[in-house]
Order: sequence, then C-alpha cells, then structure tokens
Amino acid sequence: MTRDARQPSLNEDPFTLGVASGDALPDGVVLWTRLAPRPFEPGSGLPPGGCLTVQWELAHDERFRDVARRGEFLAHADDDYSVHVDVTGLAPARTYWYRFRTGPWISPTGRTRTTPAPTASPARARVGLASCQQYDEGYYTALAHLAEEDLDAVLFLGDYIYENEINAQAGARGYTGDRQLPEVFDHWLTTLDQYRLRYALGKSDPDLQAAHAAHPWYVTWDDHEVENNYAAAVSQNNLPTDEFLLRRAAAYRAYWENMPLRAGRRPSGPDLPFYRRFQHGGLAQFDILDTRQYRSDQAYGDGWKYPGPESEDPARTITGAEQESWLLDGFRRSDATWNVLVQQVAFCRRKANTGRSRVSMDAWDGYPASRQRVLHGARDAGIANLVVLSGDVHVHYAMDIKEDFDDPASRTLGVEIVGTSVSSGFDGVEKPDDWENALAVNPHMKYYEERRGYVVVTLTPEQVRADFRTIPYATRPGAPVATDAVFVSAAGAPGFTRVPG
Ligand SMILES: [Fe+2]
Repeated sequence: MTRDARQPSLNEDPFTLGVASGDALPDGVVLWTRLAPRPFEPGSGLPPGGCLTVQWELAHDERFRDVARRGEFLAHADDDYSVHVDVTGLAPARTYWYRFRTGPWISPTGRTRTTPAPTASPARARVGLASCQQYDEGYYTALAHLAEEDLDAVLFLGDYIYENEINAQAGARGYTGDRQLPEVFDHWLTTLDQYRLRYALGKSDPDLQAAHAAHPWYVTWDDHEVENNYAAAVSQNNLPTDEFLLRRAAAYRAYWENMPLRAGRRPSGPDLPFYRRFQHGGLAQFDILDTRQYRSDQAYGDGWKYPGPESEDPARTITGAEQESWLLDGFRRSDATWNVLVQQVAFCRRKANTGRSRVSMDAWDGYPASRQRVLHGARDAGIANLVVLSGDVHVHYAMDIKEDFDDPASRTLGVEIVGTSVSSGFDGVEKPDDWENALAVNPHMKYYEERRGYVVVTLTPEQVRADFRTIPYATRPGAPVATDAVFVSAAGAPGFTRVPG
C-alpha cells in the first residue's frame, strides 16, 4: 500500500476507540471510527490541521473473503480525525462485517445489519435499549451483555457522556483502584477539546466498544451530552444565552464527531437537527425524537413541582412546532403495524402521592399540552399500536399510556417502556424506598425496578414484548445478567401483562 507523502506517519495504533455503525437503511449504513493514537491527549496525538486517508471495507463474511464494498475516506483534523462513511447500494435485511485500515494499522472488525425492504413483512424486529452511562459511577457491564444479544439494532436513548468533573479518587471506578484517570478529566465540560476528551474516555471502554461492534446503533441524546436539564438555549444555571450557545455548539460538534451519524449532519454552530425516521419493513416505524434542542424552558423553575397554569400552558412544547408537525405527519402517512417513539424522557404521568401531586417538570409531565397533541395526533391518524421508548431516569418501568391518567378505567392508548441506566446511579437497588408507593399511586405503572441493565424489545405482528434485563452490581466488573421481568402487549389491544420469562 502506498502512503501519501503528506500523510503523517503513525507509530502507534490509531484505532483505540473502536468502530461503530448506525442509522442503517434497507440499502445502506454509516460506518464510524475515529483515529486517536493517544486518546487522552488533546489532539489525540495527531497533527493539528492535517488529514489522513483511511481505507474501509464491508464484506458478507467475517473473514472479508467476499467484499461487498470498499473505499477511502479522508479524515480531517478539523473533525478530530473522525470517519463517517455512508455506504450505499447494499442488500436489505443482510448482516455485513466491516473494518478500517490506515498505514500499517487495521481496526477491530464490526458487524452491522441493513433493515428490511420497505415492502417486506418481517416476522420480527428486535432492538436493545440503552441509556445513561456515567463513567465514574460504574462499569459498562450491561453493554458487554447487550453485545451478546441477538438484535437488529441498539437504540441509545441519551446521556452517552456526562459533563461532570471526574475526580480520579472518587466514583465507582475510582473505588476499585483499577486505574487512575488522568487529571484532564477533573473538571466540568465547556470547551470543544474537553467534550472530545470525554467521548474518548467513554469510548476507550471495551464493553462499549463491544456493543458498538456487535450491532448498528440509532442514537439520540438527552441533556448530559451538553449540560444537566438544559432546555434549547437555556442553561440550567442561566448562563448568558450567547455563552451557553457556544458551549452547545462545542458539545454538539463533539457529539456528531463521535457518533455513527451521516456526514451531512455535521453541525455548524449550535444546531444539529437529527430527529429522523426509520422503517422496519411494514412491521414498525421508528420515529427518533429530540426533546432537548427545541423545548420550552421547564416550568416552575424545573424539578418536581405541582402542575399549574405555567406547566399547563398550551403554548409550551417539548418537541418544538416543526418536529411536532413532522411527527404527526409521519403518523398520518404510516401504515406500519407498530409506531415506535424513540426518545429520552418519561412520557407517562408519574405522581409521587395520591391526590394533588408534584410531577417532574423535565419530563413530558412538565409539557402536558405537548403530550396531548402527540396522543391526539396518533388517534386522529388511526395509529393502533403506539409504543414509547424512554431513558433518563435510571430505572426500568413498564407503563400503560392512559387516555386519562386519573381514571384507570379510561382507554389505554399504547405502552411505554423505560429502560434503566447502563451505569449511572452506581449499583442501584431492587426495590427503592418509594417502590410500593409509586406503584400504588400510579396504577398504570406495572413494573418499577432500579438496578442497572438494558431492555430487549421484540416486535412481531402479534405483540410487543419487553425483556427487562438487570445486573446485580455495576461498581465492580464482571456482573452476570438476568431477566428480571417480561411484559407483553398485544397488537390491537394495548396494555402490559406480565408473563413468565
Ligand atoms: Fe442520565
């Protein structure tokens, strides 16, 4: 292989952050990697202002004997040497293997899969849900198990990184003493270099690399990819808007660089529109939402508050007007058996006590008019089978979406599956202090569990099934995984029922 004379020579393996694929279509998929010989140094040990040619290949087999596509990609220092290859011309519903090469270095091999043809009637779609991987609160053991699952794709529901300072002496991984983190992580994130380094930290994890290499991912974000509970251009601590938008621009840029998103979504400035839609043949339509970038500021100063005129103002929105009309328009055009909302924050009402109760102003409970518009839009479009997938709260929930959450006898309009965190919240407990109360005051809540893990969601023409997986601990490596509960909801007759695992 000849090397361009202008190419910096690589004396160390640049494939330290693994490989990934995502946003798969019936005929294409995005392949991702980022060159980083020294991932924990600003600039990753590569020259500023340069570029490097990366060869990629995608094959029908793991040994690359039957190569389907190959090509070259020029990785630029401007993009932190990230690689976003948009492979096209593939066959639907096929598994492929891919890898990258630059100079003498060959990346690990990843496996990916295209979606079924639009006209196909697949017997099954199976996806894994993951969210909330705070590095200093636990190992990513859940992702090691997720990598072993038989899935079409992983849906990542937000909090891929956290913006907090990581004290090398503290946190779950600190306690175990297995590695001392460089001081570079011991501060809150505000600059592009700092956000980039935080992705490098997460992506250095072998369990995260395994989960990316095993399945294509469809990602969306929540708040911590920028800052806790930010709302559009409003920061949690009310930074001046200009200052916060600079920070958001840095955070969004680093996000795009590190995710298997198409090159065309590369943000310029503080905007990264990436709500988008994927089909699994005629079986399911997945609408991936962004409830952070366009939302109204949280009512009553955020937190758990009593609902009132401010939170119930119909002018408030969690999606923004444009995304909302895109979503409702998608409902009207849909003829899929299942309509699945892939998004970040809890959708169903969650009360803390009977009678008048505080609710979370950061979740859909703080935007009830938005929730009603989505539910009415689904009803008016004749959507029979609505499934909402959520993360954020670091617990598993199985909930029925009620027409009137105050009336358990009212119609059930769909089901919500909330997946617990990968590592945020340390080990968690099986039954938190408010467990009995939460189930009693929220009759539509069928299940609530607080340990770390993920969910496997299986859609068939007959039913949706949620397998809630948990691990007994995350603050030490190597935990086994178990299925804590399984719930099903029948097509045409929504409502969760617990079944034997
Ligand atoms: Fe989180």
